[in-house]
Amino acid sequence: MNLKSHLIFTLYTIYGILLKVMASKGKARGISGQYPLVQNVTVTEGGTANMTCRVEYNDNTSLQWSNPAQQTLFFGDKKALRDNRIELVHASWSELTISINDVTLTDDGMYTCSLFTMPVRTAKAYLTVLGVPEKPEIDGLTKPALEGDDITLTCMTQGSKPAADLRWFRNEKEVKGAKEVNASGKTFTVRSSLQLHVDRNDDGVAYTCKVDHVALAQTPQQATEVLEVHYAPRVQIVHSLAVPQEGQYLKLECVSKGNPSPDPVMWTKDGGELPDLDRMIVEGRELTFTSLNKTDNGTYRCEAGNHLGTSSAEYVLYVYDPPTTLPPSTTPPLHSIPPDPTRASDRTVTDSRDPNALGQHGTDHALIGGVVAVVVFVTLCLIIVLGRYLARHKGTYLTNEAKGADDAPDADTAIINAEGNHAHAEEKKEYFI
Ligand SMILES: *[C@@H]1O[C@H](CO)[C@@H](O)[C@H](O)[C@H]1NC(C)=O
Ligand SMILES: *[C@@H]1O[C@H](CO)[C@@H](O)[C@H](O)[C@H]1NC(C)=O
Ligand SMILES: *[C@@H]1O[C@H](CO)[C@@H](O)[C@H](O)[C@H]1NC(C)=O
Ligand SMILES: *[C@@H]1O[C@H](CO)[C@@H](O)[C@H](O)[C@H]1NC(C)=O
Ligand SMILES: *[C@@H]1O[C@H](CO)[C@@H](O)[C@H](O)[C@H]1NC(C)=O
Ligand SMILES: *[C@@H]1O[C@H](CO)[C@@H](O)[C@H](O)[C@H]1NC(C)=O
Repeated sequence: MNLKSHLIFTLYTIYGILLKVMASKGKARGISGQYPLVQNVTVTEGGTANMTCRVEYNDNTSLQWSNPAQQTLFFGDKKALRDNRIELVHASWSELTISINDVTLTDDGMYTCSLFTMPVRTAKAYLTVLGVPEKPEIDGLTKPALEGDDITLTCMTQGSKPAADLRWFRNEKEVKGAKEVNASGKTFTVRSSLQLHVDRNDDGVAYTCKVDHVALAQTPQQATEVLEVHYAPRVQIVHSLAVPQEGQYLKLECVSKGNPSPDPVMWTKDGGELPDLDRMIVEGRELTFTSLNKTDNGTYRCEAGNHLGTSSAEYVLYVYDPPTTLPPSTTPPLHSIPPDPTRASDRTVTDSRDPNALGQHGTDHALIGGVVAVVVFVTLCLIIVLGRYLARHKGTYLTNEAKGADDAPDADTAIINAEGNHAHAEEKKEYFI
């Protein structure tokens, strides 16, 4: 007994010393870089993850990789866990690299590399497994939809990790949807819904749901639905002439848009059938008059329908006189008034009817008359004034004859004035009368 216990004690002591030595050795080496180095790894599910653990300075101490469940995968170059997907890539004193093939979401987690120094040194590497979103699906589409319907398109994708983003596009233009994310296990289910009030403009419009995700760098996932909207037709008549005149060519086109397409369209005149004339041709949606005639006057109606309804449009045709050589500025109603529209009568009508021209001439005449009247009046006035002036002047002159002496500045002049006064007076009298 005594010997046995002594032996055990000795063994324990030796073991303890060994451990101490190893520990001190490890400590010494640890300072100079004896510790494992790892890196986080991100891999898409189905791919391969290489887990590498390195030691800068190693004294032949073993390295080990273990999984998130603390199971040893590789101890040095020795495989520990039976899993065909896990392989050794490289094992040396300074590196232990293993690969996990065909990675699944359950492989996601914290992996540990251990260096069996005393104490054991570890490093944690996180393996992130990306969940690839499934191809999205669009729900909620009724085909065909009816104009006025309210529909909600829902796009859904499952299996993404992290949660994918969904975006909606209406013919390449992004529109906003309402996103909702639900976690299911390790992955996410993402839904996005789009509410639409459908109208005829949505017919043939493509709605696309695109999935954005880190795991979809090269192969973007998307789904597209093209709306089919049924709506009652809307009819419109397009005509080729603004002022139809006799003898002209006229085309009426019945433009009808509806889904399903309202074919064929129906033409009527004044509520009845179209007259059977060679000049009038119906071809598809078009009604053509090769040469208009006044007897074509009337209301033309085109009607189109589908199972959702019927629509019609009317065109009132009024055929004017054939074009004359007069400039086109003459208004059409003038043409219909003269019963015999020869060129001469047309011109007279235009002339006699032009109140502007008449007014202009009248003002001219009045102006001339006024000027003449003023001139005559002024002339008469002048004559009268002149006449009176002359008459008065003559009187004064005659009285001056007698006063000649009084007016003279001196005696000599007065005498001369008095002497020649008579002869002078006679001369002047003759001259003036
Ligand atoms: C993993 O390591 C092997 C061998 O070195 C290499 O062929 C492979 O490309 C590596 N894979 C990845 C994902 O790094
Ligand atoms: C490590 O082991 C190898 C043999 O496998 C040996 O040659 C070498 O000297 C050892 N190195 C140390 C530091 O113990
Ligand atoms: C590795 O991933 C873990 C968990 O995501 C994180 O806490 C850690 O900082 C990462 N380490 C490095 C070196 O990126
Ligand atoms: C998803 O989330 C919605 C509400 O956001 C909830 O009504 C629904 O039950 C959830 N589905 C699952 C499968 O968890
Ligand atoms: C218009 O039609 C009538 C009879 O239908 C015909 O007598 C007349 O000559 C036509 N006028 C023209 C300009 O073609
Ligand atoms: C057609 O219009 C012309 C005027 O351009 C008129 O003289 C004629 O009476 C009209 N005919 C009918 C049938 O309405």
